[in-house]
Amino acid sequence: MTEIRAVQWNPVTMEIDLLDQTLLPGQNVTFICGSVDRLVDAIARLVVRGAPALGAAGALGVALAMIEGERKGWTDDTLAEHIDAIRDARPTAVNLAWGVDRVRPFMARGVSAVLDEAAALITEDERANHDLSSRGADWIMAAVDRRPLRVMTHCNAGALATTGWGTSVGIIRELHLRGVLELVYANETRPLLQGSRLTAWELQRYGIPCLIETDGAAASTALRGLIDVAIIGADRIARNGDVANKIGSLGVALGCAAAGIPFVVAAPSSTIDLSTATGDDIHIELRPEHELLNFAGVRVAPEDARAFNPAFDVTPARYVSAIATEFAVVEPDGVTSVTALVGPGIAPESFADLS
Ligand code: MRU
Repeated sequence: MTEIRAVQWNPVTMEIDLLDQTLLPGQNVTFICGSVDRLVDAIARLVVRGAPALGAAGALGVALAMIEGERKGWTDDTLAEHIDAIRDARPTAVNLAWGVDRVRPFMARGVSAVLDEAAALITEDERANHDLSSRGADWIMAAVDRRPLRVMTHCNAGALATTGWGTSVGIIRELHLRGVLELVYANETRPLLQGSRLTAWELQRYGIPCLIETDGAAASTALRGLIDVAIIGADRIARNGDVANKIGSLGVALGCAAAGIPFVVAAPSSTIDLSTATGDDIHIELRPEHELLNFAGVRVAPEDARAFNPAFDVTPARYVSAIATEFAVVEPDGVTSVTALVGPGIAPESFADLS
């Protein structure tokens, strides 16, 4: 089975090819980005989405901007403005800014140096997904006795949301390969249906049994004893272990806490933002009202109704049983260090000290 590639550089056209996630699962269409405006539009409309995939798109976007700037005779300031527009196209997933910032220092050496660094980022991200999946699966198998396991996930943190393999779906794939997985409850994920459209589509490809449930069913499913663990991805993890992820993740965490079920967060270290002290400091993206007021192009609310449409929520660290990155698994409620999650050589800090 070939791996899903959400974001790819086309070396012939020197453009970015995105798998258009707004059209899945019905249509498998490549959205070609040959300009910064088109990439910013693609990010804003969720043609490409998911924190690590946004990091890859941001890094490749810098090369795209350089090529467009050369063609159109942009000044350095104009080029910088366009790169900032990519960086700011969505605010919550730290990986987007991280991807842009990682390759920016290579601009002085030319487009091919930027592309080489972006390629390294992409290779490292996929490797990280495999490593964190293995660590996360080890942790879950040690923490949960029941076999086979029944898992809940929310939104989509699979290959589509990353550069390949996935984070929460990566752990699910790993558990499946180990022969210890019975079933996945995929939360639908209102209003843009990343769970039913994307996660269920991915799980079918991998031959993993899956039931789609409404977001509103999640707490009840946990309290009725129908799942053994919930695994989600993350868009930004603060220094104190608070986790921003798709709206509805907090409800899953509260349901798990009430039911005494582990709530596991899977993310590469690039999603840990040590410059953000707590979840209160995370900018939560507010998305357009029409995403809630319409369904499949049909108005489903009264004519003058207004909507509140935050795209993400923050789960406080005290409700997070474990965070798995490529470097470590830590239990934020304990005394272990968030810095262990971002790699070796960084002075340890205690989650508890930071709360
Ligand atoms: O709005 P989206 O679809 O970009 O939100 C994505 C999520 O919330 C994912 O769960 C998160 O980015 C983790 S992706 C590995």
